[in-house]
Amino acid sequence: MEAGSRHAALCLLLLALWPACVCVLSPGQIDPLVYEEQLLWVSGTQGQVNTYRIPLLTFTPEGSLLAFAEARKASSSDIGAKFISMRRSTDKGSTWSPTSFIVNDGSKPDGLNLGSVVVDEKVGSVILIYSICFHLYQCSPASTMMVESSDDGLSWSKPKNLSAQLGIKNFAPGPGFGIQKRYSPAKGRLVVCGHGTLEGDGVFCILSDDHGQNWYNGAALKSIPYNQKKKPQDFNPDECQPVEMMDGSIVINVRNQNNYHCRCRVVVRSYDGGMSLPIDDLFFDYELVDPAVAAGALQKDGVLYFTNPSNEQHRVNLTLRWSLTNGSSWVKNALQIWAGPSGYSSITSLDSGSVEDRKFIFVIYEKGHKDYDETISFAKIHLYGGF
Ligand SMILES: *[C@@H]1O[C@H](CO)[C@@H](O)[C@H](O)[C@H]1NC(C)=O
Ligand SMILES: *[C@@H]1O[C@H](CO)[C@@H](O)[C@H](O)[C@H]1NC(C)=O
Ligand SMILES: *[C@@H]1O[C@H](CO)[C@@H](O)[C@H](O)[C@H]1NC(C)=O
Repeated sequence: MEAGSRHAALCLLLLALWPACVCVLSPGQIDPLVYEEQLLWVSGTQGQVNTYRIPLLTFTPEGSLLAFAEARKASSSDIGAKFISMRRSTDKGSTWSPTSFIVNDGSKPDGLNLGSVVVDEKVGSVILIYSICFHLYQCSPASTMMVESSDDGLSWSKPKNLSAQLGIKNFAPGPGFGIQKRYSPAKGRLVVCGHGTLEGDGVFCILSDDHGQNWYNGAALKSIPYNQKKKPQDFNPDECQPVEMMDGSIVINVRNQNNYHCRCRVVVRSYDGGMSLPIDDLFFDYELVDPAVAAGALQKDGVLYFTNPSNEQHRVNLTLRWSLTNGSSWVKNALQIWAGPSGYSSITSLDSGSVEDRKFIFVIYEKGHKDYDETISFAKIHLYGGF
């Protein structure tokens, strides 16, 4: 008997004897463990790929999981030509399709960079937004691009250039996921947040109220001094992950690039569906120590989850934390997913309402023994200690 059905049987038995039994999955009982883990991509020149980096992970409207990464052709550098690689799981992360390369930028000196994946549950599509020529290395201007799948990730549209709608702007979405608003205000809106260039850095959100046909610029939280060279400890909000809270606000967990105020995460909140990020609501989360990296966040069933390499100096110690207080404090127990080198991470979950789906979250992260860019790993996390 598999663990899930054994638990269900035990629950039925206990329910008969003891109505208020442990079967109710209550956030106070969260005690996560790594239930299954597998490497989705391994770097080291094979075929046309040198290094895999920047993992993204999403659920789909059909209940599949899609994993994406930059497949860097010639080196581990952020610039250079790349593919977008994808693998797909239709069995909650147990098995994965072979890799397919869904976008190929050819031999561009400053090719594509991921990216943000956003699901529109109203129309059943998965949208991937990425940049091209973000670093302006031997190219100009930077462009914001989009591809879309309406068949659960099996096929993808041709890349569409969103810069005509958004204006010419260096915008690096995510890395992570964008959201579709489930609660008011702006129910149904797609919200994708990212960051600007080194000098024009800051957190910027782009919005769509028509399922990704048209995009416009929303909230901006600019760096200081804006459009000028930064120094250590300047205010330089960078890569970010938005999540929708149950009151309809959007909390964005942000990389604090120049360690302004602390070596920890910056948190901002939008109460108007991503139109503004008032400075009044900005705070530094001292508990979330961080070496300046892209981190993962997820709100599921009223619990906020967060993953990063939890270390002030180095990208090591990939850790999962959870908050039962909407992010104002974190439960003291944290789950160390990997002690060694670890970098960018992203979290997702399936949300069919089944007991099974309420028990798991899924983490994708950069993992290595000597360097964090050696592999990209997928971890299935059981939230209730395997029960
Ligand atoms: C995208 O569109 C903008 C504005 O029309 C244009 O300047 C840019 O060259 C286009 N980028 C690509 C990759 O086609
Ligand atoms: C790993 O993270 C935990 C939780 O933040 C922390 O207590 C511990 O000191 C960290 N270890 C290292 C080696 O960074
Ligand atoms: C978290 O936010 C929700 C929605 O606003 C609210 O109902 C709940 O009481 C909050 N929890 C805590 C512990 O503040």
